[in-house]
Amino acid sequence: MTEYFERPKNIEINWSALASRGFLTPDNVNYQLSEEYRAIKRPLINNALNGKVKGINRSNLILITSSLPNEGKTYSAINLAVSIASERDKNVLLIDADIPKPSVARTLDIHYKYGLTDYLDGSIERFSDSILQTNLKDLSIVCSGKHHSYSTELFASNRMQQLVNELTEAYSDRIIIIDSAPLLATTQGEVLASMAGQIVLVVEAEQTPQEVVLESIRRLKSNDVVLLLLNKSRNNVDINYYGYGQYGNV
Ligand SMILES: Nc1ncnc2c1ncn2[C@@H]1O[C@H](COP(=O)(O)OP(=O)(O)O)[C@@H](O)[C@H]1O
Ligand SMILES: [Mg+2]
Repeated sequence: MTEYFERPKNIEINWSALASRGFLTPDNVNYQLSEEYRAIKRPLINNALNGKVKGINRSNLILITSSLPNEGKTYSAINLAVSIASERDKNVLLIDADIPKPSVARTLDIHYKYGLTDYLDGSIERFSDSILQTNLKDLSIVCSGKHHSYSTELFASNRMQQLVNELTEAYSDRIIIIDSAPLLATTQGEVLASMAGQIVLVVEAEQTPQEVVLESIRRLKSNDVVLLLLNKSRNNVDINYYGYGQYGNV
């Protein structure tokens, strides 16, 4: 993929191409999928906007993770971002923080060179220079940035802490969705999870062994809100059935 240095003013997401690959689009042509994401996003938005009352720190920072690769994190992160941004008065920033296997840019056909790691290692000074506005008014995107062997350290840095504080405090009405690396295959996911107010643990239905899911839940035990999203269930031929559960004290 050829990457460009100059930040494009507007990213044109090709919705029909996405729809043909089974993704949600703002026009809700896939009614069933839209309904599923309505159910998924409702408690997340509710927690995000009422974090103070509910005692959830950084409630507007939602981390999408899974136990293993390929369970559907990026698929779910993009769908959730599109679904929330399509609502009136809801602003979404989707950040690709899966540095070992970034795929938001590839999925949405974005070719801008800079992203999160470039800000964290100081290659770009202002975080705003990494933010890309899309053709969906309330959706902006930050790509992963260049590959980094020390991304766990970058995520554990003061610069990351500061960034997370600024993003969650300055824009309390904005929902930040982070697409992360899997929890059990890497260390980045766990570091990010420690910063997020809400976690969505994507589970590939009928694939991921139960003990693997339980191990992930155990690693997330210090997080107040962990929601399970059952992806690719075979109960439905369209593999679009989602289950949803909440684990408080596992
Ligand atoms: N429910 C689903 N319906 C259709 N395609 C899906 C679904 N979930 C995942 N996929 C596809 O499966 C592949 C792996 O999913 P992806 O979201 O990239 O996994 P991860 O980010 O967890 O590694 C991608 O091609 C994605 O588009
Ligand atoms: Mg991914």
